Amino acid sequence: MGLERMAADGVDYERVSARESPVGRFMRIRARSASLAAGLSAEDQGAQSMPDASPIKWHLAHTTWFFEQMLLRPTPGYRPVDPAYDLLFNSYYESLGPRIARHQRGLITRPSASEVMAYRDRIDQAMVALLERGGLSPGSHGAYLFDLALNHEQQHQELMLTDLLHLLAQSPLSPVYAAPDAETGEKATSADPGSLGFVDFSPLAPEIGWAGPGFAFDNEAPRHAVASRPFQLADRLTTNAEWRAFIEDGGYRRPDLWMSDGWAVVQAEGWRAPLYWTWAGDEWLTMTLRGERPIEPFAPVVHISWYEADAFARWSGARLPTEAEWEIAATGAPVVGNLAPRGALKPLPAGPADDAPRQLFGDVWEWTNSAYGAYPGFEPTPGTASEYNGKFMINQMVLRGGSFATPADHVRASYRNFFHPHQRWQFMGVRLARDLPKARTGRRNDETTDFLSDLKAALSRPQKSISPKWFYDETGSRLFEDITELPEYYPTRTETALLTHIAPDLAAIVPDGAVMLEFGSGASAKTRLLLDAAPQLFAYAPMDISEDALASAAKSIARDYPTLKVTPIVGDFTQPLPLPDFAAGRGMVGFFPGSTIGNFTPDEARRFLGAVRALLGPDAALIVGVDLVKSPEILIAAYDDAQGVTAAFNKNLLVRANRELGADFDLKGFSHSARWNADRARIEMHLVSLVDQTVTVGGERFHFAAGETLHTENSHKFTVPGFEALATSSGWRVTRQWTSASPQFAIFVLTS
Ligand code: SAH
Ligand code: AVI
Repeated sequence: MGLERMAADGVDYERVSARESPVGRFMRIRARSASLAAGLSAEDQGAQSMPDASPIKWHLAHTTWFFEQMLLRPTPGYRPVDPAYDLLFNSYYESLGPRIARHQRGLITRPSASEVMAYRDRIDQAMVALLERGGLSPGSHGAYLFDLALNHEQQHQELMLTDLLHLLAQSPLSPVYAAPDAETGEKATSADPGSLGFVDFSPLAPEIGWAGPGFAFDNEAPRHAVASRPFQLADRLTTNAEWRAFIEDGGYRRPDLWMSDGWAVVQAEGWRAPLYWTWAGDEWLTMTLRGERPIEPFAPVVHISWYEADAFARWSGARLPTEAEWEIAATGAPVVGNLAPRGALKPLPAGPADDAPRQLFGDVWEWTNSAYGAYPGFEPTPGTASEYNGKFMINQMVLRGGSFATPADHVRASYRNFFHPHQRWQFMGVRLARDLPKARTGRRNDETTDFLSDLKAALSRPQKSISPKWFYDETGSRLFEDITELPEYYPTRTETALLTHIAPDLAAIVPDGAVMLEFGSGASAKTRLLLDAAPQLFAYAPMDISEDALASAAKSIARDYPTLKVTPIVGDFTQPLPLPDFAAGRGMVGFFPGSTIGNFTPDEARRFLGAVRALLGPDAALIVGVDLVKSPEILIAAYDDAQGVTAAFNKNLLVRANRELGADFDLKGFSHSARWNADRARIEMHLVSLVDQTVTVGGERFHFAAGETLHTENSHKFTVPGFEALATSSGWRVTRQWTSASPQFAIFVLTS
């Protein structure tokens, strides 16, 4: 069957130059439409295979009519090419008079394909003349309509391919539109994109919608706030292999997976597979623009309806993303992918996994779970073009991202495509989404909100100051572990040596079957010394604010101490403390090493010790590690190391604020400082503003004078009597105490 598309003519229709003139852009986009039809016979151009599709010839004429109606007709003295075309090539504009019903467009045997091309030439000349005489001044409504008409033409370019494929698929001769392409078509299809992963999103105050600059359709605006819960988006599109598994598992035969309307369509239409799939006895074949061929297991599934996408998602234990979720994930991502310029003419397997979702743009339009409706404050384009989008905002679903047939300069993160839920002849596929598991979301979300309000409060004080607990995100916890290995940072080394030495004494105070609760457990490294010495422990409950550090520490402890019950508790120990329910009736031992107690003010330390005493109950013991006062040189070096690790730890607070809260701290504008406050016997860490500057956090602006600081941490140093007094004032009795050789560090056993 001789339907080969003409070989590439060497013109890169999709190359978009920043300096492209309006005339150049007009000619490039118009020429691409013609090139899509080049090589098609008059029969192919005139035929219509179903009511939703249109003949190629009609697309070529209608896009031309659009320029004529929107831009040329309103110019004084314009004479229409042929008034009959108003009726023939009007699509759906009520304000422009009657039209041929869409399902009868295949009956338009005249004008011929060549007469349509002549019509295109006439309009192209008139448009170029209009542009060249400056008839569309920048920023004018006319200039917007010009953009609209070009974007409209690009939409029809994709429709030409979807409609043509549907037409060709009707022939048992399996015609091809384009020959297999060794470069983009065949080679790339064997790569296994790997198992499906999900990328987490926890947007704080999300907005969607077009924010400019450039062109957008009216339906993309205005930008507005959306309600969004933390979610996960699949890191790639659903593949044919995954779809085949759905079919083989009876996906099309199980009503429980389907929406009622969808199940009715499955029954009425006898759907058993995506559109164009046929079972060839031993494999599935599908019709493509490159002819009928076996389905490619790793390529994204295409030609599925919303009903199918939704049923598949349910079968997968997932759901479809909302359009807001999709847009949040795509915002800022470059518009690159398997779009029309690549010339693949089919969806391609995903590339190697990344931290970000792959295939957001191109390959297939992604069904969302959002009904196509007006954004709050939507205003249709004035005039005739008001009918372009607004009147379709009912009974359709939104698709996002573009397909292999979408021009690259046509799509963007805010772009909203829409079709009826039963339609599947477009290049439509699916990407899964899920709610972020509760265990991770609730806390993370609250934590982010708390961080925001704490940081705003911190920046509003005369002496800006914030709790050091915000250091410990994943990076912060890692940097702290690096600190513990620095030559200058003696506390970890010293305390570990002391613990090793006294472990048998400590083990002697641990009752049989006791539960050990550790506060600020971090990597739980020191804990191992106690666990080794006290096998009589029943359970270990490490508590930490740093979820990542806690999870990996708990995992490795559980692995290395298989008979110990390990129950990690993610939480903030400055808040009311929880107790695991299995602790009831058991001996309780608290462990609080590292001199983390020194990070509290004396008042806070007293309150904390009192709360722990109440939590652990009578007959409990608390083992506390405490750093002792020593020479300022040793102390300052420990908090301002030569390699700059502590500086990075301190500055990570700003990095975290920028990443999690969208703050705009300029990292070069702040330096790390460690100071010995002799009056209060504490090392203070500050971030010093190097210049006069303003930062924005959560939409509020905060001023830093040059030299002004944000106080980020206190590390109190104690004397033995001083700590004893503190412990006693919070109700504990000091029963044992050890002090290391210098640099001195102390361990206390307190009992209630
Ligand atoms: N115990 C370990 C780690 C000390 S670092 C050691 O001695 O080496 C301090 C630890 O306390 C970090 O893991 C940090 O995440 C945790 N932390 C800090 N503030 C906290 C808070 N308010 N609630 C719970 N954990 C906290
Ligand atoms: C966790 N805490 C006891 C450490 C300390 O020494 O105050 C945190 C730290 N800050 C700077 N270096 C280490």
